[in-house]
Amino acid sequence: MGILDKHKVIETNATLLLVLSFLVVTIGGLVQIVPLFYLENTIEEVDGMRPYTPLELAGRDVYLREGCYVCHSQMIRPMRDEVERYGHYSLAAESMYDHPFQWGSKRTGPDLARVGGRYSDDWHVDHLRDPQSVVPESVMPKYGFLEATLLEGEHIGDVMATNAFVGVPYTSEMIEAARADFRAQADPDSDFDGLLERYGESVNVRNFDGQPGVSEADALIAYLQVLGTMVDFSTFTPDASR
Ligand code: HEC
Repeated sequence: MGILDKHKVIETNATLLLVLSFLVVTIGGLVQIVPLFYLENTIEEVDGMRPYTPLELAGRDVYLREGCYVCHSQMIRPMRDEVERYGHYSLAAESMYDHPFQWGSKRTGPDLARVGGRYSDDWHVDHLRDPQSVVPESVMPKYGFLEATLLEGEHIGDVMATNAFVGVPYTSEMIEAARADFRAQADPDSDFDGLLERYGESVNVRNFDGQPGVSEADALIAYLQVLGTMVDFSTFTPDASR
């Protein structure tokens, strides 16, 4: 029996075709999936990555709630035009504490993966309040209500505990101090030593929206200002063996 005849047997027998197709797909799937279980880590570790502070995490929640991701991606692809416009291409490690990650592909507005430090806090306040006042042709909606909505941070410890459950290395000390750290970061007159001890000296401690109280704008701007700033790319060299 020639190869064509053999194939005809399979093609004319629906059950056999189904069983053999299933077998092929299974083998293909296993070849792709099984090695992942034997890798220690699929993410290259990089210096500088830390979990979000309570205030940044609250800001990230505002970002998700408002659907900012509908118009903004957070992933710079390793292509020349992107790297020249936005900076170093994104590393997997940079979103290792993001649940869920905000990579996206829709870019009605610019990618925000490295927006941290690019503008002043005041710029963000003006831009969120009225994007067209800063960029006249902008189609971004106005988010002025965020600065009028005050946050108490009463649930931020729970949010951190949930993140810890899925692998973000929040310690019980961090979770206990969540509310104090939450308030301290937006108030440069407070005692924020504990916050810096827990999250590092480079944490931005400022009154982000320039108004009394911790508002959703404070939290959101704290989050935007840290995006893409944790890894120091002036000293970073890719190392696949780590
Ligand atoms: C309908 C689409 C849309 C939505 C939703 C949206 N944006 Fe934008 N965004 C834009 C566009 C377009 C621009 C570019 C023009 C401008 O700067 O306003 C932009 C610009 C920005 C910039 C400046 C980026 C840069 O590198 O210049 C930031 C920061 C930003 N948006 C944050 C946000 C945040 C935070 C949210 C959610 C609260 C949000 N955007 C929601 C469309 C959107």
